[in-house]
This record gives sequence, structure tokens and C-alpha cells, in this order.
Amino acid sequence: MSEPLPYRVAVVTGATSGIGRATVLKLRELGLTVYAVGRREDSLQELTALCGARPVKADVRDTAAIVEQLCGIEVDILVNNAGILSTRASFHEIEPAEIDAMIDINLKAPMHITRAFLPGMVERKRGHLVYLGSSGGRAPYPSMGAYGPSKAGLSLFCDNLRCDLLGTSVRVSEVVPGRVQTDLYRTALAGNQAQALLYNGYRPIQPSHIATIIANVIELPAFVDVSRIEVFPTDQATGGGTMVKFEQQ
Ligand SMILES: NC(=O)c1ccc[n+]([C@@H]2O[C@H](COP(=O)([O-])OP(=O)(O)OC[C@H]3O[C@@H](n4cnc5c(N)ncnc54)[C@H](OP(=O)(O)O)[C@@H]3O)[C@@H](O)[C@H]2O)c1
Repeated sequence: MSEPLPYRVAVVTGATSGIGRATVLKLRELGLTVYAVGRREDSLQELTALCGARPVKADVRDTAAIVEQLCGIEVDILVNNAGILSTRASFHEIEPAEIDAMIDINLKAPMHITRAFLPGMVERKRGHLVYLGSSGGRAPYPSMGAYGPSKAGLSLFCDNLRCDLLGTSVRVSEVVPGRVQTDLYRTALAGNQAQALLYNGYRPIQPSHIATIIANVIELPAFVDVSRIEVFPTDQATGGGTMVKFEQQ
């Protein structure tokens, strides 16, 4: 029989869609009280009705709004999942505002939210920080000149945190997926393009698979930390030997 979880309360950001939504459902199945952070009221309400998650309506860039709504709550698990890949433009054509958006949401927001809830975890010597990295943060991909660095920064942040948290019993886990079938490309590949280009005819990972991995990582004894886990579709590999011919103007 598995040990009872030492945790009671989880916070999941980006709960209105994809991996975040699936993670909320999974952590509720584990019997945790789950605070679901998201911007879309209707999706949060639907999630509350479905599984009893507690809605926290906020943009992840607004740490104060999240802290205010969770005032007095002892947060044990923080799943920093919210993220964007807002464009697939090459870096020489990217809108400068998109650079800021991806760095702010994918890297700065998780750092600030962590900073807000970590002191309590350290004090209680109980906590688990989970981050959604990306294969795009581990290797170069075309058209990911801002997204990739935002996720690479997040990955190094996880490693740095583990150094600082030695002896506190607070765990840090980075989950690093390849292609998962979600709405991540909703602006980068508008309309039905993502479905047509990335998912139809392929066998992408589903959000529930990532949620299961997150739950498994949490369920291990507190002295076991899955520091990083890479998860790819069996049909996807990074790297390769693509080379193009140079054509003089
Ligand atoms: N799908 C993949 O292939 C893949 C691969 C590797 C890593 N990931 C990572 O997995 C994480 C989850 O993405 P997903 O694939 O599940 O995509 P998704 O379906 O687009 O979900 C992203 C979630 O983040 C939320 N979000 C974005 N910006 C936010 C903000 N400023 N404040 C609050 N919430 C915000 C979105 O809320 P709104 O509905 O309000 O926009 C949505 O709930 C991301 O960090 C992503 O980088 C995904």
C-alpha cells in the first residue's frame, strides 16, 4: 500500500486548458484541495463544477492578485504550468512585444509566484515545486527564438532552486514534454492549422499523460525528487541532419 501524501493543498497555474486543466483533475483524484489559477472565468467555473477545484481568477503576471486570493492558505504543491508560444515567426521578424510576453509569462511569472509561496514551504519543511519546461528549452528549434530561451531559463532556474533548497525537504521537478496535443499554438498557428500540421496523422501525447506523470512524481516519497523528466511521443526525436543549400541573390 502506498504512503499517504504529506501534502494537502496544490496550486496549478494555466488551469483553463490543456496540461493545466488535466493536472487539476488528476490532483483532485489524489484527494488534494486544488486551487486552479486562470484568466477565463467560464473555464474555471466549469472546472469547479466538474471536480471541486477552487478558482483563482488571475493573470500569472499579477503575483499580488494570486497571493491576495490565497492569503492564509498553506500551499504544499505549486505547479507552474501556464505558458505561451504566441508566435512562430523567425526571430528577425518577431514582434518585439512577443519577446516580452514569452519571457514574462514563461519565465518571470513562475519565478515571482515561486518567490511568493516558497518561504512558507521552507518554513514548514514541506513542499513540491513543479515546472512545465519544454523540449524547446533543451535544444534549438526553428522559430522558437524567444520561447526556447524562456524555457531554457526556467530549466536552469529549477537547477538553481535545488541548490538553494538543499536541506529544506522542498522538491523541485521539471517536466519537459515534446509534442502534446493542446491549444498551445492557438495564436501561432491560428484556426485549424495546428490540428492539420501538428496533430492529424500523428500520435501526440495527450494532456492526461503529462498529468499522470506529474501525479506520479508527487506521489513518490518526499525524499525522492524527480528533478527533471523528459517525455516525448515515441514518434518524435530531437536533432537530426537538416541542411539547406545557399542560394545567392
Ligand atoms: N503542448 C505542447 O506541445 C507543450 C510542449 C512542451 C511544453 N509545453 C508547456 O506546457 C504548458 C501548458 O501548455 P499547454 O500545452 O497545456 O497549452 P494550452 O492548452 O495553451 O494551455 C496554456 C494555459 O496557460 C494559460 N495562460 C497563458 N498565459 C497566461 C497568463 N498570462 N495568465 C494565466 N494563465 C495563462 C492559458 O490560459 P488562457 O486560456 O487564459 O490563455 C492556458 O490555460 C506551457 O508552459 C507550455 O509551454 C507544452
